[in-house]
Amino acid sequence: MRVGFLGLGRMGTPVVRNLVAAGFTVTVWNRTRAKADELAAEIPLTVADDPAGLAAAVDVVMTMVADDAAVEAVYLGPEGIAAGIARGAVAMDLSTVAPATSRRVAAALRERGADFVDSPVSGSTKTAEARELLLMVGGDDATVARVRPVLDAIGAAAHHLGPVGTGATMKLALNSIVFGLNAALSEALVLAERAGIDRLAAYEIFASSAIACPVVHYRRAAFERPGEGPVSFRLALGVKDLGLIAELADRVSAPMPQAETNLREHAAAAADGFADWDLAGLAEWLRRRAAAPPDRACRVGGEVAAEREAAVEREAAAPPDATTQWEAAAEREAAAERETAGQREAAARPEIAE
Ligand SMILES: NC(=O)c1ccc[n+]([C@@H]2O[C@H](COP(=O)([O-])OP(=O)(O)OC[C@H]3O[C@@H](n4cnc5c(N)ncnc54)[C@H](OP(=O)(O)O)[C@@H]3O)[C@@H](O)[C@H]2O)c1
Repeated sequence: MRVGFLGLGRMGTPVVRNLVAAGFTVTVWNRTRAKADELAAEIPLTVADDPAGLAAAVDVVMTMVADDAAVEAVYLGPEGIAAGIARGAVAMDLSTVAPATSRRVAAALRERGADFVDSPVSGSTKTAEARELLLMVGGDDATVARVRPVLDAIGAAAHHLGPVGTGATMKLALNSIVFGLNAALSEALVLAERAGIDRLAAYEIFASSAIACPVVHYRRAAFERPGEGPVSFRLALGVKDLGLIAELADRVSAPMPQAETNLREHAAAAADGFADWDLAGLAEWLRRRAAAPPDRACRVGGEVAAEREAAVEREAAAPPDATTQWEAAAEREAAAERETAGQREAAARPEIAE
């Protein structure tokens, strides 16, 4: 089987190595060509000039790129996969994107007589290297059966969940837990340190305790030695995922107060210069915030606490047919803003009268 692979990032590169090791004839394309040429100098594969040319020459096209915009570009852009894919070929996207993006790409390929499956993955760079990825697959039965040999070559298990878009949906549900865990680990580590426990001793307890799932182990070095060593998952991609989770929650009216907080916190860390750090950079961001001058730290903490209390009260008073939680959150923020402005105005009035 001839396989094409687009996207030689942190995850795509080890996946390609496993495809070659499994005996597939592999052609690759990457936006930054130098990465493809470097890999081709190391293992037997061909480098294509553009996505359309690659798609025309293979039986299965695989993509693993950063985000929805990148997926749209490689499939639907000029010289994209849709422009070249052969009738009867299959494309498979491993990126974490919105289910609607997967469905849009599937529809465009269907017009060309080609099929599509979304197959995002759970795991990290080390999991990908070890061929231990968990794949969540969306597509029709016959198409998924055709790509089984490829799925088996890159992961430990592939679960077929339903039609196109269900893999992407399940990945977002799963990742909402990953980011909750990242925030909880970050906060707990900084809490222990601030209270006088050595960082490595605290992490040893996490890694030996009831909460020691694989994430706690494979992110250990990044938590213990912040800013050193290789990045396995960029914090910016986490913010992207949390945005997709928020959109999905909004669309299906699922209450996700934790994910809402996690989006706000991870986005603030990214905006403060941690976007290209590993996801564990959230702990370092909290550590630096904790070390900021006490008046600033207290002010931030006080505002957050007051906002939370007010939100709980407003939620309890909200009419049952209130708009979605995300719209409600925006309304809450606007109301809090109006309240603060009103208080400021009231405080200023006596002075003006005098
Ligand atoms: N890292 C993880 O632990 C992990 C785990 C599970 C799922 N994922 C998901 O897997 C996907 C890839 O993650 P990664 O960590 O490998 O990311 P990465 O290291 O940042 O690599 C991103 C890849 O996307 C390409 N790309 C970005 N924008 C593009 C565009 N507009 N057009 C074409 N190509 C573009 C990049 O090309 P250049 O080389 O030219 O920049 C690169 O090949 C993401 O959706 C991520 O959420 C990651």
